[in-house]
Amino acid sequence: MSEVTIRAVTKAYGNVQVLHGIDLDISAGEFVVFVGPSGCGKSTLLRMIAGLEAISGGTIAIGGTVVNNVVPAKRGIAMVFQNYALYPHMTVAENMGFGLKLARIPAAERERKVREAADMLQLGDYLDRLPRQLSGGQRQRVAIGRAIVRDPKVFLFDEPLSNLDAALRVATRVEIARLKQKLPDTTMIYVTHDQVEAMTLADRIVVLNGGRIEQVGSPLELYEAPANLFVARFIGSPAMNVVDIAAGARKGNPAAAAKLGVRPEHLRIAAAGETPLFSGTVSLVEQLGEVTILYVDIGAAEPLVAKLEGVRRVSPGETLSLAADAGKIHHFDASGIRLRALAAAS
Ligand SMILES: Nc1ncnc2c1ncn2[C@@H]1O[C@H](COP(=O)(O)OP(=O)(O)O)[C@@H](O)[C@H]1O
Ligand SMILES: [Mg+2]
Repeated sequence: MSEVTIRAVTKAYGNVQVLHGIDLDISAGEFVVFVGPSGCGKSTLLRMIAGLEAISGGTIAIGGTVVNNVVPAKRGIAMVFQNYALYPHMTVAENMGFGLKLARIPAAERERKVREAADMLQLGDYLDRLPRQLSGGQRQRVAIGRAIVRDPKVFLFDEPLSNLDAALRVATRVEIARLKQKLPDTTMIYVTHDQVEAMTLADRIVVLNGGRIEQVGSPLELYEAPANLFVARFIGSPAMNVVDIAAGARKGNPAAAAKLGVRPEHLRIAAAGETPLFSGTVSLVEQLGEVTILYVDIGAAEPLVAKLEGVRRVSPGETLSLAADAGKIHHFDASGIRLRALAAAS
C-alpha cells in the first residue's frame, strides 16, 4: 500500500512554467483521476510521479519516501500509456511476461503471474495470440496486464482509452473499473481529458486547468457543488448553462451573484402559473429517445440547453417557459467563484 504526497510541485520547460505549485495527497488504494483540457499539465504531473520528467520544484513522495531523485524502476510504479507499444512478434503471454523475464524471475513464477493477470483482464483465452490478432481494446488490456505482473504499488494510466473507438472505450473502461475492485490496495492515478471517464472511474477527481488545481472532490461533489465556473462547465454533459443575471434571471438571487448556472437536466417545462426561470423560442430539437435536448433562444449569446426526460413533442419556433428547483440553481460571483461554496467554506 502506498500513498502519494505531492508538495508545491512546479514544472518549467525552459522559462515556460507549466505547473504552478501542485499540492495533493493521494491515499493508499485510492483511484484518483486527473482531468482537464488538453495542455493543462496532466501528463506532465503523471510523468513526474513516474520519474519520466524531472521535478523543477517541490517534492513528490511515494509510500512516505521522497522520490525526486529515485529512478523510475525503483519507485514501485507501473505506467500504461495511450500507445500500448506491444512487441508484434511476441504472443500475449510473452508480451506480458517480458519485463519479468528481463528481471530474471523464474519461468514458473512468471507463468503464474501472467496467468493471474490474464484472468483478471479476461485475456485467459488469448495468451497464445499475437498482438495483430487482437482488437484494440484487447491490446490495451495486454498493456495493462504487462503492468500488473510487476505488482506495482502505484499504477499510473495516461489516457489509456483515447486510441479506442467508442464501443471499445466503454468496454475497456468497465474492465479498468473491475481491475480497481480486484486490486483494492493498489493506488491508481488515471489521466484523461474525458469527464465521463473521470466521473465513472474516480474515487476522487482532480480538475486541472492551466497548470493549477481548480478543485479536488468526489465525482458527485464536483457535480453538485462545483467550486467555480470552470469546474461547473467542465463536469457534466451537455455543459451547465451559465447566463448573466441581468439577461436571464427574474429575482431572488444573492446580492453578489453575477452569473447563474443551471444544468440542462435540471430544467423542466414551467408549470401553469409558475414563474419561469427562462422563456424563449426553441431553435433546435434533438430527439435521442431516452431524452430530448432542446436549444432555446433566450436572447443571450448562447442558446439555453434543456435536457428533458423521454420523447417530447416540441418543434423549433415554439415558445417555451422553463423552470428549475431552487436547490439546482448555482450562483457565481463576477470572478467565477461559486457563491454557495464560499458561504459553506466560511
Ligand atoms: N517536453 C516538453 N517541452 C516543452 N513543453 C512541453 C513539453 N512537454 C509538455 N510541454 C508543455 O506543457 C504543457 C502541459 O503539457 P501536458 O502535460 O502534456 O498536458 P496534458 O497532458 O494535460 O494535455 C503544454 O503546454 C505542453 O505544450
Ligand atoms: Mg496528456
